[in-house]
Amino acid sequence: MFAMNAREYNDRIMNGLFRDIYPLLAEQALARTGVKSGLCIDLGGGPGMLGIRMALSSDLRVAIVDPLADCLAVAEENIARHGLTGRITTRQGSAEALPLADGEADLIVSRGSIYFWEDQGRGLAEVYRALRSGGWAYIGGGFGSQALRDRIFAEKAGDAEWTEGVAERRRKNPPSHFRTLLAEAGISGEVRSDDSGTWIVFQKPARTK
Ligand SMILES: C[S@@+](CC[C@H](N)C(=O)[O-])C[C@H]1O[C@@H](n2cnc3c(N)ncnc32)[C@H](O)[C@@H]1O
Repeated sequence: MFAMNAREYNDRIMNGLFRDIYPLLAEQALARTGVKSGLCIDLGGGPGMLGIRMALSSDLRVAIVDPLADCLAVAEENIARHGLTGRITTRQGSAEALPLADGEADLIVSRGSIYFWEDQGRGLAEVYRALRSGGWAYIGGGFGSQALRDRIFAEKAGDAEWTEGVAERRRKNPPSHFRTLLAEAGISGEVRSDDSGTWIVFQKPARTK
């Protein structure tokens, strides 16, 4: 069961060391998927900073989905601080049982969360179910650019628990692992690994008449 101190993570990481990655990651997700309006889900969004940046860079409405109530309470504060109350909402739930109706989402983004899902295959199947026909998923992890990654790793150099945790998650979740998950779920998509991170990207096929 995943656990973290939501307020500390928010203050030290999301609004501290990681602050600059979210605007860049949002631009990358928007550019890659081309989805600029409708409902975007920030899955495993924690205190919500990627979802907030998605809204600030587009016309999207956003729902932050996370299993941890503490994270969503901090997300509500961040949403209000950015003047986005009403446009961004929060929903408690997990990837394996998304609190979403079939076809409700136009875009599902998720950063740094799939590594913690207890059943990644089930989570990806849920993402597929919750997307509308023609909707997109952008799911994975990374820091947006090599320069930001280098800066974060330099600052975290003395934190062995963090650096070893990141290394272990990468080792257990190589691109080939994500490709296998997609194939097992019968989802056609790509897994790209570059300076921005490692991302599963797919579009749910549009309905044919
Ligand atoms: C490392 S944090 C990343 C938070 C945020 N996406 C970011 O990039 O800053 C991992 C997040 O995944 C969430 N999480 C853990 N297990 C999950 C699951 N089964 N389904 C959805 N989210 C989950 C955690 O509650 C946490 O907010």
